Amino acid sequence: MVAKELEALLSENRRFKPSEEFQSKANATSDAYKESSEDRLGFWAKQSERLTWFEPWTEVLDWKPPFAKWFIDGKLNACYNCVDRHLKTWRRNKAAIIFEGENGDGRVLTYQDLYREVSKFANVLKSLGIKKGDRVTIYLPMIPEAVIAMLACARLGAPHSVIFGGFSAESLKDRINDAQAKVLITSDGSFRKGNVVPLKANADTALLGVNCIEHVVVVKRTENKVQMQEGRDLWYHELMKDAKIVCPAEPMDAEDMLFILYTSGTTGKPKGVVHTTGGYMVGVSTTHDWVFDLKEDDVYWCTADVGWITGHSYIVYGPLANGATVFMYEGTPDYPAKDRFWELIEKYRVTILYTAPTAIRTFMKWGPNYPQERDLTSLRLLGSVGEPINPEAWIWYHKYIGGERCPIVDTWWQTETGMILMTPLPGVTETKPGSCTVPFPGVKMEIIDQAGNPVPKGSGGFIVAREPWPAMLRTVYNDPERYVSTYWSNWEGVYFAGDGAKWDEDGYFWILGRVDDVINVSGHRIGTAEVESALVDNSMVAEAACIGKEHDVKGQAVVCFVTLKEGFKVMDGLDDELKKHVAKKIGALARPEDIFFTAELPKTRSGKIMRRLLRDIAEGRALGDVSTLADASVLDFLKKKYNEEE
Ligand code: PRX
Repeated sequence: MVAKELEALLSENRRFKPSEEFQSKANATSDAYKESSEDRLGFWAKQSERLTWFEPWTEVLDWKPPFAKWFIDGKLNACYNCVDRHLKTWRRNKAAIIFEGENGDGRVLTYQDLYREVSKFANVLKSLGIKKGDRVTIYLPMIPEAVIAMLACARLGAPHSVIFGGFSAESLKDRINDAQAKVLITSDGSFRKGNVVPLKANADTALLGVNCIEHVVVVKRTENKVQMQEGRDLWYHELMKDAKIVCPAEPMDAEDMLFILYTSGTTGKPKGVVHTTGGYMVGVSTTHDWVFDLKEDDVYWCTADVGWITGHSYIVYGPLANGATVFMYEGTPDYPAKDRFWELIEKYRVTILYTAPTAIRTFMKWGPNYPQERDLTSLRLLGSVGEPINPEAWIWYHKYIGGERCPIVDTWWQTETGMILMTPLPGVTETKPGSCTVPFPGVKMEIIDQAGNPVPKGSGGFIVAREPWPAMLRTVYNDPERYVSTYWSNWEGVYFAGDGAKWDEDGYFWILGRVDDVINVSGHRIGTAEVESALVDNSMVAEAACIGKEHDVKGQAVVCFVTLKEGFKVMDGLDDELKKHVAKKIGALARPEDIFFTAELPKTRSGKIMRRLLRDIAEGRALGDVSTLADASVLDFLKKKYNEEE
């Protein structure tokens, strides 16, 4: 895959310069690169002035690799920065959140409204015994209550753990247990393409395997019938009715935990990525302001779910800290029709759109008629995140959505990085379709080879960072050893992001995808080990190996190779059963596209499955290095079988 992408990218010669008009009004100028390269810490010190601090910090950075502390001794509150401080300005009555539901219902919350709802809900949480340091799990649809709940936790200093509403009961259970959360916030259901996903019922199933949850707060959204367990389960609207409006924001140390967010790793157990308060808030507010060139009258729409890092950093904390108007949509792009996004942009005059390549590829598949029949002239800037955007999709986005006038910011970052690390600055950087261009000011990234040496321009290697950045993850929850071994052990004192990249003669970065076994479906990382564990969980399955196979729309699709236990034969419908099983265990996202049954899997002599070779087979390539393979005949069998069934 790497070699092929490299070739395709090499032939990309198109260039796009910011227009003079855009340049002349842009929030960030090229001085930012100069200033930050002369004095990196001074640069971040200056950016920290964007926030309101209860007590000033005394030192910018304390760096004892791989543990970083930013803005030492500083005290602040993330919720205060996103809400309260705007009330002292004209923004008090500015729309903070413009919401539209899947069914077309809507709500607007001004900053004043948001303050009221968040403070009341913080008091509700307090009344349920939540205090600074307690963990709260949030399992909600894309509705304003999700943001309110996050900010209410931040107000009290209670780290939240948001679980994407598409995750199964099983995944929810594991994540609640890992965080040892005391309260779970969910809803009766969530709307999905006209149906109701029973979130509360999923939560009930999850809680059968959980002991730490004391209360479940249930938001009424879909009005479907739910079971309420006496003493444990409480309705949000009832609790909110009498809640007091005044709830002081807890002063937090810059290094106090703001949230935990679970992300897949290469081993079965998801990692609880820990983000803290000061550095994270400085990082996300600075990048949000400059990358999206935020103006007071913008209507900003990030289409991610709040359950992912993109939602945390660029729906909630970055934009609200900057006093933005955030548009929030509950549903999918194809319900009730395939022009839903364009209808919403036309209706709310959205000016900034931040979405994912998988969505763009879907729109491409549906054809340009849908956007062409809507007025998209309000748009002035487009963003992309989650996967490499292939040049064709970039050009399509530019032409049909951006009307050839909007700069595109292709932003590279991760759950772990917390903030955008590589991106164009829209009024400064000349863009090349398919490249995330260069590191953000104040961020240093390198591409190195196996030996740890920087590769020359024009070559590929591993993307790494030697210097910490403010929003960097601080640890893996309750597992600092895993933090060190996962991120800092490939090369001494070097953060390895897990991605391969190439840089070109101009020093632009081109992401080549992940070098480990994680599968990226529609921009969401799914660990092979998790899918494999789910398959092996079935009583007939002996062993499984999962890989990501290139997919036109999803970027990658999950393909599984499965061996059955002795005594079991492949029967009609078994593959469907296993697919369903995976979806139930992990969530619909992980549902395998194809399952192949085989007597053996290719393994190294030490017994490790060689997924790389399975990828070669699935993508019809000549096999790579087979020298470590234990039994070569396995491959011939698999190749034949694969080609027969494809
Ligand atoms: O492989 C990179 C890809 O997504 C991974 C991070 O996934 P996650 O933690 O779920 O966060 C996604 C949203 C920030 C990265 O290691 N990725 C993210 N953005 C890009 C990208 N690949 C190429 N280009 C991007 N702009």
